[in-house]
Amino acid sequence: MEGMLKPDALKNKTFIITGGGTGLGKSIGKYLLELGANLVITSRKKEVIDRTAEELMKETGGKVLAVPADVRKYEEIENVIRQAEEAFGHIDGVLNNAAGNFISPTERLSHRAFDIVVDIVLKGTYYTTLAAGKYWIKKKQPGVFLNIVTTYAWTGSGYVVPSACGKAGVLALTRSLAVEWAKYKIRSNAIAPGPFPTEGAWSRLLPGELVKKFDPAERVPLKRVGEHQELANLAAYLLSDYSAYVNGEVITIDGGEWLRNGGEFSHLEMIPEETWDMIEKTRGK
Ligand code: HXC
Ligand code: NAP
Repeated sequence: MEGMLKPDALKNKTFIITGGGTGLGKSIGKYLLELGANLVITSRKKEVIDRTAEELMKETGGKVLAVPADVRKYEEIENVIRQAEEAFGHIDGVLNNAAGNFISPTERLSHRAFDIVVDIVLKGTYYTTLAAGKYWIKKKQPGVFLNIVTTYAWTGSGYVVPSACGKAGVLALTRSLAVEWAKYKIRSNAIAPGPFPTEGAWSRLLPGELVKKFDPAERVPLKRVGEHQELANLAAYLLSDYSAYVNGEVITIDGGEWLRNGGEFSHLEMIPEETWDMIEKTRGK
C-alpha cells in the first residue's frame, strides 16, 4: 500500500484532473503531488475543489489550483487549460476522471437521465481531450491522457446502461487517439478499476439497503476491494515518462473480478471440499 515511484518522479510536471475534488481523483492527485507534480483540479462544485486544494497543499506541500468547470461545457474546459497555463507555464498530462452514474432498470430512465450520464462521461471526456489536444499540438509539446473507464466498457452491464455506453465510447476514444495523435507525441491510455470504495460511487451504486445485501468484495477472486494507493501507483506510472512506450492500452485493476464473473464455471468456488472429495471418488463410474 506504499507509493511505488521514486520521490521527485513527477517533479515540475503539471497535471489536470477532472473530478479531482473527491474519491479516486483526489487520491490519485495526492500521490502525484507527493511525487513533485503541480495539480489543477476541476469539477462543478467550487467549494469542494477549493477545500480539497487547501487540504492537499497542507498535506503534501505541493501546489494545487482549483478551477470550477462543468466538463460538458467546452468554454469552461478551455478556461481550465488557460488558467493552468497561466499558473504553471505548461501542462503535461490530463486525467479524465469525472463521471456520473446511478443504477436503474433502463426502461425506467427518462431520455434526460440517459443524457445526463452519457454527457458527463463521454462528452465531458472528449471535450477535455479535444481542448487539451489542440493546446499541446499548437504548442508542439508532448502530452499524456489517462482515462478512467470500467471493465463493463467492453462487457457491457445491465442497470448502468448509460454509463456502459459512455465508458465504451471513452475506451474507443483512448485507442483511436493513441494512434492518430502519436505523431504529436501525445499518448492515450486508460485504467479500468474494479471496486474501489468511494462515497460518490457507493452512494449511487449501492444505495439504501443494497450496501448491506451486496458485498462487492465477494465478486472478486482476491476477496477484497481495491486500495486507493494501488490505483494511484498505476495512474502515476501511466502519467509518467516511465510508461513512455505504453500507448493505447487499457489496464484492468480489479483483483480478477471481470474474468471471474465471465467464466462459465467460476461459481464452482461455492463447492465445499467434501463435495469435491465425493466427485473425485465417483468420477469415471
Ligand atoms: C433514475 C435519475 C436518477 C436515478 C437522477 N435521475 N438520478 N433517474 N435514477 N437514481 C434523472 C433525473 O430524474 C433527471 O431526469 C436527470 O436524471 C437529471 O437529474 P439531476 O438530479 O437534475 O442531475 P444532476 O443534479 O446534474 O446530477 C447528475 C447525476 C448525479 C449523474 C444524476 O448522480 C451526479 O452528480 N453524479 C456525479 C458523481 C457520480 O455519479 N459519481 C459516481 C461515479 S461511479 P428528469 O427526466 O427527471 O429530468 C462510477 C463507477 C463505475 O462511475 C463502475 C463501478 C464498478
Ligand atoms: P466520485 O467521487 O463521485 O467522482 C466523480 C467526480 O466527477 C466528482 O468529483 C464530481 O464532482 C465530478 N463530476 C461529475 N459531473 C461532472 C461534470 N459535469 N463536470 C465536472 N466534474 C464532474 O466517484 P469515484 O468513485 O471517485 O469515481 C471516479 C472515476 O472512477 C469515475 O470515472 C468512475 O466512473 C471511475 N470508477 C470508479 C470505480 C469505483 O469503484 N469507485 C470503479 C470503476 C470506475 P462534482 O459533483 O463537483 O462535479
